[in-house]
Amino acid sequence: MPSCILALETSCDETAASVLTLEGQVLSSEVVSQIEVHRVYGGVVPELASRNHIQHMRIICEQALDNAGVTLPDIAAFAATSGPGLVSSLLIGSTMAKALALAENKPFLAINHLEGHLLSPFMDDAIIPPHVALIVSGGHTMLLHVHGVANYKLLGQSRDDAAGEAFDKVAKMLGLPYPGGPEIDQRARSGKRNAFPFPRSMMESDNYEFSFSGLKTAVLYLLPKIDIAPETTLNDVCASFQEAVMDVLVEKTISAAKATGERIIGISGGVSCNHRLRELFTERCFSEGFTLRLTQPQYSTDNAAMIGFAAVQRFKIGHYSPLEADVDPNLSLLS
Ligand code: KG4
Ligand code: ZN
Repeated sequence: MPSCILALETSCDETAASVLTLEGQVLSSEVVSQIEVHRVYGGVVPELASRNHIQHMRIICEQALDNAGVTLPDIAAFAATSGPGLVSSLLIGSTMAKALALAENKPFLAINHLEGHLLSPFMDDAIIPPHVALIVSGGHTMLLHVHGVANYKLLGQSRDDAAGEAFDKVAKMLGLPYPGGPEIDQRARSGKRNAFPFPRSMMESDNYEFSFSGLKTAVLYLLPKIDIAPETTLNDVCASFQEAVMDVLVEKTISAAKATGERIIGISGGVSCNHRLRELFTERCFSEGFTLRLTQPQYSTDNAAMIGFAAVQRFKIGHYSPLEADVDPNLSLLS
């Protein structure tokens, strides 16, 4: 009796495969990162990303099956990210999952990458409770009211850069390597958070929208006026910038949770690995009486286990996808 799902993730520059039980337990989660390939260009080069996905796809599927201790007949359904993301990258994982589904005569599940992030704080749970969700990744900063699987209401999102994008762009200005988020996070640990008074954009506005481009510009205007050669000054800029991003994320999320009346807050996406984010949300949720669910760090940045977990939820309710289902670089979470 097939009892597992094989999920693939290739929306950007990580080639990932994971096997989960139909109850949502992760049996294997393999990720091949292409960071070194793209680092020399200071960002992701789509053509190189898709070529690398092709090179790694077959081997990573075999590794995911081997490490889970299962074989193809144990797989009840094949899932892949169908968007949003880079179209030439999405096509690799999606085509592989469809080919396996066709060959094995099993269902195919097209999964929204954002739904993978969104549900990832609850990967240890049997059900997804109603909650307020903050997705903070390289491509998105969104606040949602989650009523249940496939029942999401957008509360607000970034009008310009995503939080992770702001981290990456500011890191580039500071001469730090790609991806900038982890670099800034690390340096901020030894910097002064109040060294530079960066703006907290839209903090006072009466909505749940974000804007990070003004903050990015504030860093750009500061740089000619200071010398970041000394490590201490560089670290101070990192800590002050990071604090400005986190202050806005915390305030907006807490006020959204209060407005909806939900008592649970879930946080996901690459930026949710950030140490200061985890510290500030933990303190604030404790003092305000909210239950905080943070995605485990290994499932915060792009991975296939979160795609598999979303696929398990869809499989349970029979939400299979036709093999004709196309990838969509702009796929919405709300359709
Ligand atoms: O979720 P993710 O892996 O990919 C997208 O779906 O976009 O997020 C990647 C983003 C990048 O912008 C990266 O710089 C950021 O997450 N990131 C971090 C940290 N780790 C990754 N940002 C701040 N602090 C971190 N520790
Ligand atoms: Zn992502």
